[in-house]
Amino acid sequence: HQSDTHIFIIMGASGDLAKKKIYPTLWWLFRDGLLPEDTYIVGYARSRLSVADIRRQSEPFFKATPEEKPRLEEFFARNSYVAGQYDDAASYARLNSHMNALHQGSQANRWASSLPKPFGRDLQSSDQLSNHISSLFREDQIYRIDHYLGKEMVQNLMVLRFANRIFGPIWNRDNIACVILTFKEPFGTEGRGGYFDEFGIIRDVMQNHLLQMLCLVAMEKPASTDSDDVRDEKVKVLKCISEVQASNVVLGQYVGNPNGEGEATRGYLDDPTVPCGSTTATFAAVVLYVENERWDGRAGPPGRPEGTALRQPAHAPSRPGPALSPRGALHPALRQSPERAQGRGAPAVPRRGRGHLPAAVQAQRAGDPRAARRGRVHQDDDQEARHVLQPRGVRAGPDLRQQIQGARRGGRRGRRGALSATGDTPVTTPTPHPRLQNVKLPDAYERLILDVFCGSQMHFVRSDELREAWRIFTPLLHKIEREKLQPIPYVYGRCGGWGRGLGVGWGRRRAQGLPLICPPNCPCPSRGPPEADELMKRVGFQYEGTYKWVNPHKL
Ligand code: BG6
Repeated sequence: HQSDTHIFIIMGASGDLAKKKIYPTLWWLFRDGLLPEDTYIVGYARSRLSVADIRRQSEPFFKATPEEKPRLEEFFARNSYVAGQYDDAASYARLNSHMNALHQGSQANRWASSLPKPFGRDLQSSDQLSNHISSLFREDQIYRIDHYLGKEMVQNLMVLRFANRIFGPIWNRDNIACVILTFKEPFGTEGRGGYFDEFGIIRDVMQNHLLQMLCLVAMEKPASTDSDDVRDEKVKVLKCISEVQASNVVLGQYVGNPNGEGEATRGYLDDPTVPCGSTTATFAAVVLYVENERWDGRAGPPGRPEGTALRQPAHAPSRPGPALSPRGALHPALRQSPERAQGRGAPAVPRRGRGHLPAAVQAQRAGDPRAARRGRVHQDDDQEARHVLQPRGVRAGPDLRQQIQGARRGGRRGRRGALSATGDTPVTTPTPHPRLQNVKLPDAYERLILDVFCGSQMHFVRSDELREAWRIFTPLLHKIEREKLQPIPYVYGRCGGWGRGLGVGWGRRRAQGLPLICPPNCPCPSRGPPEADELMKRVGFQYEGTYKWVNPHKL
């Protein structure tokens, strides 16, 4: 109902998410004057705490400056805390009377944030949860957070696709053979094994964050930017995806790297918070097919089968390396989620003659029949567009990087056989423009919680959307659990493989017919088990090392 007073209730106020995300987010919004004037924040949890306790826990995450001190006091003056049980009517009655006692509390708009994540374990349990919530609230009162939808880069995807004419006309099966969504984190569970082991990588990030990104990549242009029009389109994409087939999945679990240092030496099973002998996957590569008019390839021209591959070596604690960098210049930190759309061959594209045949000849000499074959087949000349959604060092920056490869896969060659890419065209600047460098962009939660206050549901997951997402993954999840499918071991932060290395001299080693095995302390990031690359190859994506940008003027 309409009232000027707002009460924001944090269920689970004593927990980790509250202290690290929810309280800091509310503070940032409050500090910047973005919360409605008359807003109260009420913490609720079982522990008997006071506002002072909450403050002690959460303030370190506020990044408040000394000048902001008075504002901080005002913020905490708006906070209160109620201890109570989650399954006890009397506790809630107490919470209610506490809120009624606040200024205009009985007529206030009340927002409750409670964050089970993931929402359920499978289709059945998620349905149960959703049905229960729907018995209490209307859909337009429910804001299910998937924080990936609050990310600047992810939101940019829609703009990129629908607000310009570069991609619109080519964003379909005729021009795109497959799309890869990659999520990598350069660390292990590090004490979070208790939570993680119960869910595994598919539930933790794939069924939610990655599938949401898939929707944004694959969906049709919504009729309007009305929340339900946007969400309708996402649901339609999901409805066109069949349940995952186990044959289209590779699962992995990381083991320690005996040559590594510190955390890298510890495998998943060495984490004391992980149950002994756990078969939970920390890596998954999954292929999904979007069977609609835009994407379905069955009637398409012969060649590689198209589809949408979700590749997900998360908790594949890969060391950051040039494989993840569009330009090679890296800040040695963080993770990123590139989205790649690999194009179909464009036989009419003028190619540079040099380097083409010689590559094949060289490969033949080097005894690599695969490469030799590739060198001859013209259709293998392809383009690839790559959008980096979380560039290194710019967690929430404005620079959606984009790289278009108009290069020959299977031996991009510059002078002297070095790996290089031609036609590397950054559409936006690779580092923020100086004018943008000090601009503070809201983080995902900040944006989303502000959306809640504004009543905009566009970036929230609707019940039917959630249901479709679980439908796609539930049979697989059940099979994994029923049959205790063994994940394939892969080494923490190491590429571990034949010809997959980015190790120095890759091209030269191949040209000289030397073994392509990476050295023990190889700097390549892990790509998960080699079987994942095999799977991707089988469905049409060809991985050929990395893009190493070479200044064309120096070629
Ligand atoms: C969370 C997962 O939802 O997303 C974590 O539970 C994961 O396991 C995190 O690390 C990644 O989010 P971000 O914003 O750090 O990329």
